Amino acid sequence: MLSRSESDIIVKLDGVTIGYEENNPLATIPSLLIKRGEILAIAGPSGIGKSTLLKTIAGLVSPLRGTIEVCGATLPKRPLRGDLGYIPQRLGLIRHASVMHNVLIGSRASMCGSMQIFTPKEAKESARNVICEMGLEHKIWEPVKRLSGGQQRRVATARTLAQAPKVILADEFLSELDDETMSHVAETVVRYARENNAAVILVEHDVSRARELADRLVVMDDGRLNPFISSTKTLEVKI
Ligand SMILES: Nc1ncnc2c1ncn2[C@@H]1O[C@H](COP(=O)(O)OP(=O)(O)OP(=O)(O)O)[C@@H](O)[C@H]1O
Ligand SMILES: [Mg+2]
Repeated sequence: MLSRSESDIIVKLDGVTIGYEENNPLATIPSLLIKRGEILAIAGPSGIGKSTLLKTIAGLVSPLRGTIEVCGATLPKRPLRGDLGYIPQRLGLIRHASVMHNVLIGSRASMCGSMQIFTPKEAKESARNVICEMGLEHKIWEPVKRLSGGQQRRVATARTLAQAPKVILADEFLSELDDETMSHVAETVVRYARENNAAVILVEHDVSRARELADRLVVMDDGRLNPFISSTKTLEVKI
């Protein structure tokens, strides 16, 4: 039987080395535990391997070594569809399809996840709500390719929120947004995490913003994931 604190862990990395070639590892993460409801930020210089780390946790790139557990499934076994939400740095939207169509992909995934079960009608309603939340109601039937970079980024965030995930991996999801929109989108994602006890792992190149948003900040440097702990925030799970 798991203790309460163990059952609160929703992402667990153990002895993980990430990279694309055995003889050229990008980073080693001896141990990283993320709790339900926790917001963890990852910062570090360009090219250090932040996106690769998220892709590895998402199960899209295999780790060179080590084990990764997400929502109770040890990779390569995948979590239930819908439980893991991923906002890629390159968005991965269907460009010729409408905003609604893209976000509905997330809502439909939520029908398979364990957090919330939507009927098809509710899925459409939830997609519409989250599109409005992202300030895109006037673009709802517009093909994504006709949206600005920041608007497309908000579509990708909406798609993930509509999924009702237990874990969100967000790669530079606030890029290309003006200050006001950025605050609103950040607040929406943080509120989602707090209200649903969902974990968020976000990559953010701006360290002060990362520190503001997250409960815990880790900085990738020199091919290692170094704990860099914000002194103002409570740290309950140690790396
Ligand atoms: N599919 C791939 N195959 C081989 N190497 C890759 C692949 N994708 C990325 N890389 C390399 O891995 C390294 C880390 O890339 P990654 O995209 O993870 O960096 P990052 O920290 O997210 O950078 P940025 O802040 O610019 O987004 C880079 O040297 C990159 O060239
Ligand atoms: Mg990146």
